[in-house]
Amino acid sequence: MTGFLGGAYLWVKALHIIFVIFWMAGLFLLPRYLIHHQDALARPDEAAQWVDREKKLRGIILTPSLIIVWLSGLAIALSGGWFTGQGWLHAKLLLVVLLSGFHGWAVAYSKKLAAGKSSLASRQLRMLNEVPGVAVVLIVILAVVRPF
Ligand code: HEM
Repeated sequence: MTGFLGGAYLWVKALHIIFVIFWMAGLFLLPRYLIHHQDALARPDEAAQWVDREKKLRGIILTPSLIIVWLSGLAIALSGGWFTGQGWLHAKLLLVVLLSGFHGWAVAYSKKLAAGKSSLASRQLRMLNEVPGVAVVLIVILAVVRPF
């Protein structure tokens, strides 16, 4: 069951898992940066360093990884015919869409902090920090155990 990817199927699957790891590394780091950045808003020199770190993390890790995870995931799903009768994949996709939304929120908040504004309490940011960890537990169980 390899479809149009033929012999490249397993290579694309390896690429998928490699970039899932990079994406998750970025998604664990950025919300943590946001907490430090917000705490530093009253200290312009320190805040500017966080702006720079977040920009690099977004440009070098987060955005490319998000794109490659989506493209490789969709390619193996279409090529392997996984979209039919695989409940786990539909549930996984729902969680991945939500995680991509979380990614978008974190990027938007990072830009807001870069403009010197904030709208969440530090405690709320710390709670949001847990979202990627919970999501990855559920997504990996769905992808590996495939309970339905
Ligand atoms: C973006 C949309 C995604 C799609 C369409 C997708 C699709 C797929 C498909 C069809 C497989 C099965 C390949 C096979 O067994 O031959 C797979 C494997 C896998 N995916 Fe995704 N995926 C996506 C995102 C993610 C994310 C965000 C994660 C983790 C956070 C993830 C983790 C995994 C893992 C660990 C496997 C290996 C499972 C195994 O071989 O036992 N995927 N993906």
